[in-house]
Amino acid sequence: MPKSIGILTAGGDSPGLNAAIRGVGKAAIGAYGMQIIGFRDGFRGLMQDRTVRLTGAELSGILTVGGTILGTSRDKPHKMPVGDQTMDMTNVMLETYRRHHLDALVCLGGGGTQKNAYHLAKQGMNIITLPKTIDNDVSGTDVTFGFDTALGIATEAIDRLHSTAHSHHRIIVVELMGHNAGWLALGAGIAGGADVILLPEIPYDVEIVAEAIRQRQRRGSGFSIVAVSEGAHSRQDADALAKANAELVEAKAENDKKKKKQAKERLAQLTQTMQDKTFRLSRKLEELTGLESRVTILGHLQRGGTPSAADRLLATRLGTACAELIHKGVFGVMVAARGECTEPVPLEEVVGKVKLVPPDHPWIKTARDIGVCLGDRL
Ligand code: F6P
Repeated sequence: MPKSIGILTAGGDSPGLNAAIRGVGKAAIGAYGMQIIGFRDGFRGLMQDRTVRLTGAELSGILTVGGTILGTSRDKPHKMPVGDQTMDMTNVMLETYRRHHLDALVCLGGGGTQKNAYHLAKQGMNIITLPKTIDNDVSGTDVTFGFDTALGIATEAIDRLHSTAHSHHRIIVVELMGHNAGWLALGAGIAGGADVILLPEIPYDVEIVAEAIRQRQRRGSGFSIVAVSEGAHSRQDADALAKANAELVEAKAENDKKKKKQAKERLAQLTQTMQDKTFRLSRKLEELTGLESRVTILGHLQRGGTPSAADRLLATRLGTACAELIHKGVFGVMVAARGECTEPVPLEEVVGKVKLVPPDHPWIKTARDIGVCLGDRL
């Protein structure tokens, strides 16, 4: 029966991480008599063997605390920056795991972390993961913890932007996190009453957005709120990116080094020019509507602070289910939320996938039915 487990948090932080650490730890110690140590700063701490013993004392009082008491990093085991080099440090991590006689390692993170954890599982570690990210884009789970809190923060921000947009008869373009998936912009956009919602999944036409705003003006609403995901692109930008990506895939398939380098440079150049795309959108809307426009980027505000009740509950449920699965010797899985229950999903079914907003998702229909413009022509 597993006795000793390790835990780490990796990738961008998110509200609910501490609630999950507490859930895993309290159940592991209290219900199953295990010992638990935390590794600091994600996979880097596992490599450097920087640990903290997690007892009842360390796990107490952290439920409501934002961020992660363990610290986090975006480091990958097989591509670890060491000095001025990038090295595969998988074996060093394996040594740490063995040195502590661990029976399991719990990795809390988003899509990237699932991938890195799966890599370690294939090297022989008993890995179990939990899905966290405010983006809600991890495949195989109904929802990730962190999302509900960010949804609340973003919705409140949109509420507040309404009154100032209204007073000044302005457009306010509010950028929300979500580089691949538009769950946050869509959810907060609907909940906050945005007039336009732009997602990575639906490339937009700025003329259509401008027309929706002009229509509102004609109906007597001299202001508009545009909620845009950081990963949303205009149709032209999306086409250019798709072309550059296809060139890279082709170069990789042909194993043509020169072509690969050129395709990478082209992609980097495109990404660079798209950095200010929300500001470009705002300027273009001013030009096309004659209204003043302002940009608000919510950024890391959406990841900070106290987790919502729903996230605390979800993270605790997933954490305790995780301890039970370790007790039963179930490894190589992510503990997914499935309705009111939880379910272990094999990591190979989770990695390499992103849970995007499907075009026929009920939230999309809801938005359209209440007259929200999604930037596309129907
Ligand atoms: O946690 C996911 C995410 O919030 C993305 O939406 C965003 O693009 C990214 O993190 C920002 O990460 P960082 O903190 O590394 O800038």
